[in-house]
Amino acid sequence: MMKLFFLILFCAIFLTVSSDSDNMQDTCPTAQGEQSIFFINGYPCKNPTEINAQDFKSTKLTVAGDTDNYLQSNVTMLTASEFPGLNTLGLSVSRTDLERDGSVPLHSHPRSSELLFVVSGVVFAGFVDTNDKIFQTVLRKGDVFVFPKGLLHFCLSGGFERATALSFYNSQSPGVVNIGGVFGVDQERIVNITRSLVTDHDEL
Ligand SMILES: *[C@@H]1O[C@H](CO)[C@@H](O)[C@H](O)[C@H]1NC(C)=O
Ligand SMILES: *[C@@H]1O[C@H](CO)[C@@H](O)[C@H](O)[C@H]1NC(C)=O
Repeated sequence: MMKLFFLILFCAIFLTVSSDSDNMQDTCPTAQGEQSIFFINGYPCKNPTEINAQDFKSTKLTVAGDTDNYLQSNVTMLTASEFPGLNTLGLSVSRTDLERDGSVPLHSHPRSSELLFVVSGVVFAGFVDTNDKIFQTVLRKGDVFVFPKGLLHFCLSGGFERATALSFYNSQSPGVVNIGGVFGVDQERIVNITRSLVTDHDEL
C-alpha cells in the first residue's frame, strides 16, 4: 500500500516537473525545410498524411562525431530540429565521444535534466549545485548519472581509452549555455577550470 502511494506520488511529481508542455496529438513530426511565417513554442507539424515510421527513427548516433578538435570530444545532439519525431514529446538524445584526454567542459542545459549512460570507457562526471557544491564521480560501462536541470556540469575521459556515452533529456530542445561564451573567456581556460574540479581521481 505504502509502495503504491509512493509510486503515485512519484508519478504525480514527475508529471508536474516534466519539462516541456504536453503534446495535444499523438505525434507531430517536425515539418522540415519549410520556411515558417509564424513562430510557436516548438515546431510546426508535418502534414499528417505524410507521416511515416522513418520520422521516428534516426541513424545519426550510429557513428562517433569527429573528435579531431581542441577538446578531443564531440557531442552529437539530436533535438526535435534534427530528429523530427521528437517534436512535442519532451525528449531528446545525444551521443558523446571522448578521446583519451577528451573533455566536455562546464556547461548547462536551461530547459532540461540529463541522464548520462556510459556505453564504453571511463568517464569522470560532475555537476555544481546552487550552493557551489560539487558532486562528482567516476562512471564505467553501464553506469548512469544525472545532471539536474540547469546546473553546470562536465564530463572528462578517464584517460585510458576512448569513452562513449549516451544522454537523454526531458526536453525536445534542452539548449546549451557555455560559460565563457558571451564573455569571450578563453575555451582553454574553461577546460583548465573543469579539469581542476576533478581533484583526486582515486577517491572518486
Ligand atoms: C562533431 O562531429 C561532426 C560530425 O563528424 C562534425 O561535423 C563537427 O564539426 C564536430 N564538432 C567539432 C566541435 O569538432
Ligand atoms: C591550461 O593548462 C595548461 C596545462 O597545465 C597550461 O599550460 C595552460 O597555460 C593553461 N591555459 C590557461 C589559459 O589557463
